[in-house]
Amino acid sequence: SLPKKVKIVEVGPRDGLQNEKGDVPADVKIELVNRLTEAGFPNIEAASFVSPKWVPQMATSKEVMAGITRKPGVIYSALTPNMQGFEAALAAGANEVVIFGAASEAFSQKNINCSIAESIERFVPVAKAAKDAGLRLRASVSTAFGCPYQGEVPLDSVAYVVGRMRDLGCDEIDIADTIGVSTPLKTKAVMERAIKEFHANRLAGHFHDTYGQALANIYASMEVGIEIFHSSVSGLGGCPYAKGATGNVATEDVIYMMNGLGIETGVDLDKVVDAGQFISSFLGRKAASRAGNAIAAK
Ligand code: HMG
Ligand code: MG
Repeated sequence: SLPKKVKIVEVGPRDGLQNEKGDVPADVKIELVNRLTEAGFPNIEAASFVSPKWVPQMATSKEVMAGITRKPGVIYSALTPNMQGFEAALAAGANEVVIFGAASEAFSQKNINCSIAESIERFVPVAKAAKDAGLRLRASVSTAFGCPYQGEVPLDSVAYVVGRMRDLGCDEIDIADTIGVSTPLKTKAVMERAIKEFHANRLAGHFHDTYGQALANIYASMEVGIEIFHSSVSGLGGCPYAKGATGNVATEDVIYMMNGLGIETGVDLDKVVDAGQFISSFLGRKAASRAGNAIAAK
């Protein structure tokens, strides 16, 4: 049976914008985060404290975190690949830090320049520091449904990484379809395997929409007990280390579907549509959300 309520984590300001080639000034990012806060998201991924040589667009993360208007109770998350990133996120007042690994060895090397085992070692002090500082700790497991470099990713690899992230004390673990290749039955198989390692209600589905399967994958995930999903306003994004991958599933489409299913999100769809139109007009292109464009055209 489907959940009565789901948590939608808005990742547009980070996963969405990190891939933009042109400069997106900090004040535009701040306005986007503020609009998303107003729309009612309980959790917004606002920043990424990674090497600016690797992901130049995220170099303004400190300014963004300092400039946003925070709403009490909302979790503002930041990616932190190592202790340097953690210190920056802590100083910037992130409520949650996100360590990010991969279920595929090849992707781990391309994305964070180390093996899966080395990445876990690097996350040990980050996890401890996060706990000591009283911050929430989340982990993202990339390429859990397929890898742009090695293709198939065995279920055992997903289970292994989820287990290690659990052992680090993560509050939530994201199972990510980095390149958007999964289909519903595959999604169920991966999620069911992950659920053997970690609480179903603390696993999140992070689906990119490259092959147009993301909504179906979300629905399939709900059928096996997943209640947290990531999405990106106006379908922004892609991963700089996953060529050809498109953005996350568009938030407007997800909220439209949840509303139709009678599943509570706490998010105001019209406000998300406005936020999507705002950032798309800044970027000079049409929003990539079908529901968003349909609603905006009314
Ligand atoms: P490295 O080169 O192996 O690291 O990169 P290093 O420790 O040797 O450091 C090299 C340089 O980077 C040094 O500077 C460090 O100071 C600097 P230099 O001495 O050369 O001037 N540096 C940093 N600067 C700022 N903040 C930091 C930091 N760390 C080192 N935290 C590293 C390793 C992990 C840093 C690098 O590979 C990196 O930054 N990768 C980021 C990759 C990334 O952001 N990818 C996108 C996000 S993941 C994603 O999108 C997937 C997700 O959405 C889920 C999904 O869809 O799958 C989450
Ligand atoms: Mg992603």
